[in-house]
Amino acid sequence: MTSAARLRRCADVESFREAAHRRLPQIFFDYLDGGASAETTLRANCADFDRFQLRPCVLRDVSSCKLDAEFLGGHHDLPVMLGPIGSLGVFRADGEAASFRAAKCAGIPACLSSFTVTRPERLSATLGAGAAFQLYALKDRDRTEAVLDRVSGCGFGTLFVTVDTAVSGIRERDIRNGLRMLSQPSLRMVLDLLSHPSWLADIARAHPVRMALAEDWSEAGEGYLEQAAFLARQIDPAFDWQGLAWLRARWHGRLVVKGILTADDALRCVDQGVDGIVVSNHGGRQLDGVSSSITALGDIAAAVSGRTEILLDSGIRRGGDVAKALALGASACLLGRAYVYGLVAAGEAGIAAVLSSIRAELEVTLALLGLRSIRELRDAGPGIVRQISGPDC
Ligand code: FNR
Repeated sequence: MTSAARLRRCADVESFREAAHRRLPQIFFDYLDGGASAETTLRANCADFDRFQLRPCVLRDVSSCKLDAEFLGGHHDLPVMLGPIGSLGVFRADGEAASFRAAKCAGIPACLSSFTVTRPERLSATLGAGAAFQLYALKDRDRTEAVLDRVSGCGFGTLFVTVDTAVSGIRERDIRNGLRMLSQPSLRMVLDLLSHPSWLADIARAHPVRMALAEDWSEAGEGYLEQAAFLARQIDPAFDWQGLAWLRARWHGRLVVKGILTADDALRCVDQGVDGIVVSNHGGRQLDGVSSSITALGDIAAAVSGRTEILLDSGIRRGGDVAKALALGASACLLGRAYVYGLVAAGEAGIAAVLSSIRAELEVTLALLGLRSIRELRDAGPGIVRQISGPDC
């Protein structure tokens, strides 16, 4: 099936997910779709949005609804951005460039992962307003500084530092599938790869794939797999609040801490003078058993009380999810898997289609809530959502 035909059949993020499942080898689909350990938090991230019900106000003039929003110091066409996802170029050749182009076209920012396979320099021309780079602090401070200089030289003005990955979560699907053994594939893996010829042909175009941050480090090895494993080993498990203070002093642009789930940690971030935080559990890929981010948001927003900007990710699949997060205190949401499903299914056009479906849902949600703008939604606040209790997942 062509990308255009695939697009016509996709109405929402779930249909892109199904299309992505058909196109990707199972080993990569599981890497994208899966979470840590028993995947309790992964499931809760989406399910908990249903525990917040919306309270509409009728008989309001909603003949025009505006979705533009202020966040991260800029004015954007939607209160949404594309979050950092590693190895996009393995899910789809040129995946990072396609994502930045789609974001720019939609008038929203995107964030490039440290695990990019595209060199940041190649993206300079595609960077739209608010372009961000995501950093994992490395054991070697000089190397970390070199990364900061490199990405700031490429035009990334905002830095997201991810802090919920001191060690990697245990992803059981990847263990079962033998993801780490991909360089010496079993017969089952070979059959899995061969039975997805359109993905294989696409990725062959991108050959040789490299890990952009590590490819110039001689000890990192030659190929993508070796370099990715090397880069993962360089993430500093000792990076702490002092490290964050150092980063605050060293990075002169906007600094956002990604991976906050408690009010205490959010307040420490405020004390350190960061520009924003992302309430996130890494899409349920790190510590299993923590709360969904939408459940954590209310307490954090109350504690922070406007002293730093709050974004949210983990589980956003619909425009209605974005509306709930904004009412509960976020200024914008990051998409993760949602846009990658679109990318895998149909490239840049797939991301554009995911964004238009989220935009359409958000517009209808706003209008039926009786609200005419994102400003009115944020001003309405938690009063327009009601949390219902239910059995724990
Ligand atoms: C991620 N995420 C992530 N986060 C980050 O800070 N740096 C990274 O390199 C990655 N890489 C990555 C790869 C894959 C395959 C996934 C699914 C996720 C986490 C990501 O930025 C975001 O927090 C979650 O994806 C949000 O959850 P949902 O919306 O995908 O459920």
